[in-house]
Amino acid sequence: MSYVLALDQGTTSSRAMVFDADGRVRSVARRDFPQHFPRPGWVEHDPADILRSQLECARAALADAGLRAGQLAAVGIANQRETTVLWERASGRAVAPAIVWQDRRTAADCERLRSQGWSAALRERTGLELDPYFSATKLAWLLDHVPGARERAEAGELAFGTVDSWLLWHLSGGQLHLTDRGNASRTLLLDVHAREWDADLLARFRIPAAVLPRLVDSLGVCGETAPEVLGAAVPIAGIAGDQQAATFGQACFAPGMAKNTYGTGCFLLMNTGEAPVASHNRLLSTVGWTGGGRHAYALEGSVFMAGAVVQWLRDSLGLIRNANDIEALAASVEDSAGVVFVPAFTGLGAPHWDARARGTLLGLTRGAGPGHIARAALEAIALQTVDLVAAMRRDGAQSLTELRVDGGAAANDLLMQLQADLLGVPVLRPRMLETTALGAAWLAGLGVGLWRDTDALATQWRLDRRFEPSWSDDRRAAVIARWARAVERAKDWAEE
Ligand code: G3P
Repeated sequence: MSYVLALDQGTTSSRAMVFDADGRVRSVARRDFPQHFPRPGWVEHDPADILRSQLECARAALADAGLRAGQLAAVGIANQRETTVLWERASGRAVAPAIVWQDRRTAADCERLRSQGWSAALRERTGLELDPYFSATKLAWLLDHVPGARERAEAGELAFGTVDSWLLWHLSGGQLHLTDRGNASRTLLLDVHAREWDADLLARFRIPAAVLPRLVDSLGVCGETAPEVLGAAVPIAGIAGDQQAATFGQACFAPGMAKNTYGTGCFLLMNTGEAPVASHNRLLSTVGWTGGGRHAYALEGSVFMAGAVVQWLRDSLGLIRNANDIEALAASVEDSAGVVFVPAFTGLGAPHWDARARGTLLGLTRGAGPGHIARAALEAIALQTVDLVAAMRRDGAQSLTELRVDGGAAANDLLMQLQADLLGVPVLRPRMLETTALGAAWLAGLGVGLWRDTDALATQWRLDRRFEPSWSDDRRAAVIARWARAVERAKDWAEE
């Protein structure tokens, strides 16, 4: 009973991993699932696809590890956050497609609420921005647009949840309707200070309390899997949104410790300790995790385009054949020769939150070539992270002394070196880059006492490579100043 199964339900794929008591990976399974874009700005998932792909992975990971479910000490869940599911309690069937975190369909609703002068109070109460990114306006949209949904929700027939809740419901055979406070802090419905659902917020977004899941801790046994799902009843003992899980899996247990995940976008989270830090620079204040009578908050910056920039250079410009080729192309030149690339393809996220910003390529000369553009693209990924860290500093968060990194693009040595050079602090890449699944496993293992405490876990975190900053302060300041000018030019461009 010294194995933990971690489920990592992400935006484009479901994954499952089995870990042993030393935190070593015993097996990995992964399934992509369909993405739906029914209208411009809309992004949907079929909740049945989410569930099917996740259960397939869980069973495959168990089989690959040569284990039966009865040999598991616990199951932990990490999930894409904010994505909104509404289902029928009687049948367990979703009443509509899931509205994914990237979906912008409720932009006008947010605009209307903003014009009522409500964003400052909302930021104070929830730690979030009034933006379609979060769940509340998505849930209200479903209640308003799915025939009969509002009446049925008020009558207690429907259940709402983020993806953790949806999985928990089905893993438990319909017994559990729960979410952890970290996931709940991404809905706009949680009072981030009290860490409880907030009646005023529910009223403001017109959400009936009857649809809400019960709040539980991120670590600790909250129920068990129904025997028919995995083959045995297994304690479910860890729940966290994927970025929170990655922060935990990076062993960022002390205030001031931070991680950055380089995926499609970038998510930088800094542990701020037992109290939320109110951002005055449009970062998000969010619950990290709770459990064992303790809790941790985080300050978060999210940028929308990171790895996706490399995909664009590959798929739209044909500059590289494989994403990994970006490193050699960017390394073929000494610097970007003044070329600056602002990848605001879908607007700018934190700390700018400018939905009308668009991508720009500045400083082109006749000497500029593919190498300079590739290098400018990598610099842009790193510079967006610099903007987040600068905003954290302005917010008075503990100053960053090092940054832990993970996600696909963290394997790119040149990008990591640029990140260290541009931040002026060391960048630490762990051997284990699957920190999201590891975080879910650690939460679950702690929850059943497989590990004693976070100190025991911190010893499992192993360094792969440390990137030291090598630029002079003047060089760093000049590149950052040029970037800031370019970002201003990218802003407020789209006319629609
Ligand atoms: O807030 C959205 C985030 O949780 C999505 O993460 O890794 O599924 O793209 P990912």
